[in-house]
Amino acid sequence: MNISDRQSMHGQWSSRWTFILAATGAAVGLGNIWKFPYLTGQNGGSAFVLMYIICVAALGIPLMMAEILLGRRGRSTPIRSMKVLAEENNVGQWWQIIGWSGTIAGMLILSYYSVIGGWTLAYIFKSIAGTFSGATGEFAANTFNTFVGNSSSLFIWHTVFMVITMGIVAGGVQGGLEKAVQFLMPTLFFLLLLMVGYSMTTGFFGKGLEFLFTPDFSKISGASMLSAMGQAFFSLSLGMGTIMIYGSYVPKDTSIASTSVMIAIADTGVALLAGMAIFPIVFANNLEPGSGPGLIFQTLPVAFGSMTGGTIFGSLFFILLLVAAWTSSISLIEPFVTWLIETLGVSRLTAALYSGMATWLLGLGTVWSFNLWAELKFFGLTFFDLLDFITSNLMLPLGGILIALFAGWLMSAESTKAELQISNPTLYTTWQVLVRYIAPVAVFIVLLNAIGLL
Ligand code: PHE
Repeated sequence: MNISDRQSMHGQWSSRWTFILAATGAAVGLGNIWKFPYLTGQNGGSAFVLMYIICVAALGIPLMMAEILLGRRGRSTPIRSMKVLAEENNVGQWWQIIGWSGTIAGMLILSYYSVIGGWTLAYIFKSIAGTFSGATGEFAANTFNTFVGNSSSLFIWHTVFMVITMGIVAGGVQGGLEKAVQFLMPTLFFLLLLMVGYSMTTGFFGKGLEFLFTPDFSKISGASMLSAMGQAFFSLSLGMGTIMIYGSYVPKDTSIASTSVMIAIADTGVALLAGMAIFPIVFANNLEPGSGPGLIFQTLPVAFGSMTGGTIFGSLFFILLLVAAWTSSISLIEPFVTWLIETLGVSRLTAALYSGMATWLLGLGTVWSFNLWAELKFFGLTFFDLLDFITSNLMLPLGGILIALFAGWLMSAESTKAELQISNPTLYTTWQVLVRYIAPVAVFIVLLNAIGLL
């Protein structure tokens, strides 16, 4: 069969625009609104932001192009696509490891992502119930600690989040994913802008901007570089096959380069907007920027509690976060679900059920890492921190590098040129240099540096 006529058996986006919305939906998630601010706070602010932006531009965009390219060329699940592409390019079948590692990483990430998604659900109800009106910092921190300390409530919310996610996934590409993102993404942007508007009225907007954008280079360390890089991969959903599988549904006349740039800009824009919404509120209320995964849950309720209309703003904010989490979580499990469909020949519904149950079960480890297992440490990390470290900081960057090496070295220049359709030769060469040399070398340097070998 002619390669350009290859189609994915799982469907195709109805237009380039739905692909952009869906990929942006996959990229924009808890990573931007929950994780980016707390990592920025823990790593001292602006220097981290700067390293993050450099990673997005120099590694993220070229790797995203490589990943969409592989997906569109392979037109299948990451595992199957890599098999097809390895055959096509006469290289070893072990390259399928890209697909395997990504499929597993997606499931591992979703297992804890769902727990945090569950916190978000719970906080919508707390906000609507007016729990935070007049809340002090101490009250908000106590509320959060009591909440995460209670294993049964985390268990319930994690379960609810997982059921909703798998319900959308069971709907399939056009029925489920597209319908969901078309409605959810625009709502998200609107609500976020509203939050930034509020922050401008706190009197601490300038302080927030300074924290985010005036680099303090003394705060840069091997560990903070690794987390900035891991966060760039995590936030852009790179290195694990999500973008590859979404790429497999892309119509053949879509420009991969400009689409990648748009997705990266939208994703980084949302993270920065989230930072601009959150840090002024943190400073205005004398809250602690480095307080970790609970940052937004411990700090924002104080602000909502003291502002006029806080119940509405607070509820809207957590709905926003839920929306963002949803569109990402459906993409995290998509490689696993489609792999089950292809391998076991089961229906989408059955595949969603199996993968949802397996992921849910693993998620219990994260549920307990905040309470029953809080003292249980692996290499000094809780179960949740360990999963996060292994996936974001190791599996995604390494997966990304293999993708870059495959697209840069093993695929023929004709085929990558044909897929990328970049007419400007300088731009094509720049992309090639970035995926062949810069990205692999940079990721290795950051990894070696972080484990103290450099
Ligand atoms: N990018 C998503 C976020 O920022 C998380 C994610 C990672 C989704 C990897 C898919 C794949 O929340």
